[in-house]
Amino acid sequence: RDAGPGWADEVRRLARERDAVVLAHNYQRPEIQDVADHTGDSLALSRIAAASDASTIVFCGVHFMAETAKILAPEKTVLIPDARAGCSLADSITADELRAWKAEHPGAVVVSYVNTTAAVKAETDVCCTSSNAVEVVESIPADREVLFLPDQFLGAHVRRVTGRANLHIWAGECHVHAGINGAELTAQAQADPDADLFVHPECGCATSALYLAGAGAVPAEQVHILSTGGMLDAAKNTTKQSVLVATEVGMLHQLRRANPDVDFRPVNERAACGYMKMITPGALTRALREGRDEVHVDTATAARARGAVQRMIEIGQ
Ligand code: 13P
Ligand code: SF4
Repeated sequence: RDAGPGWADEVRRLARERDAVVLAHNYQRPEIQDVADHTGDSLALSRIAAASDASTIVFCGVHFMAETAKILAPEKTVLIPDARAGCSLADSITADELRAWKAEHPGAVVVSYVNTTAAVKAETDVCCTSSNAVEVVESIPADREVLFLPDQFLGAHVRRVTGRANLHIWAGECHVHAGINGAELTAQAQADPDADLFVHPECGCATSALYLAGAGAVPAEQVHILSTGGMLDAAKNTTKQSVLVATEVGMLHQLRRANPDVDFRPVNERAACGYMKMITPGALTRALREGRDEVHVDTATAARARGAVQRMIEIGQ
């Protein structure tokens, strides 16, 4: 299961033999991030998958990410090292529930976070990620109702930034980010008042971070609500000695590599996504050797979902 000596060389050799590009999300185990061709957030990896000329994509991430790659590149073979790597947020709405919600709001524009199943994307007008959710909603005429799903905390963030009253928000959440709570964030921010706060908008504590800024407890310029890719860019430019990071702990590997002089500390060190961590070194080697687990999206669902996903990768370039 472990990355023993020679493991990375073997992965590189097997990937070459299979004409495969290896993509890793920022929440993957450090050794998986280090061996991948590209590491990034959901939006960056979707764009790379769409543009790649490799015949096989090995997606080290969770299932909806691999499905999104397959929707964008149906002619390619898409592999995920462990097909059981799901997502509690993607599980928080089904296509049937979305159809019923749409029926209650005829004419509304449906904006789905990329953390959704292919069947939900097929019922969607435009997808978004945490990197471009605000831009996606701003691209919709102000007088149109919007159904935003499934993440309630990202939805609240988008509503705050856009000031849009006609944005309806589904009450879903990610169990990892919802568990990063405001009390922990507040205690740590008070203990280190000079630290920057990097907060993912899926976090339950995003509102607390803004409250701290509003109450003057932390200067507003120290509070940054960011996607994982946005955190990396901000890490390169921070002038602070320490940064409190509210997101899944896998992110710390990239942040520390980007700026080794800064003390990046997790707000909640237990915030690990068990699904992301299912992609072990052994699972990656097996995927490349045996060509599994292959990801399939049925042709009709993929065709209906493609427009929404394509609009997502075009907005916020
Ligand atoms: P981003 O990489 O788009 O910030 O998404 C975070 C996430 O939770 C993916 O599962
Ligand atoms: Fe899903 Fe949350 Fe894991 Fe991201 S961290 S893959 S949103 S369960």
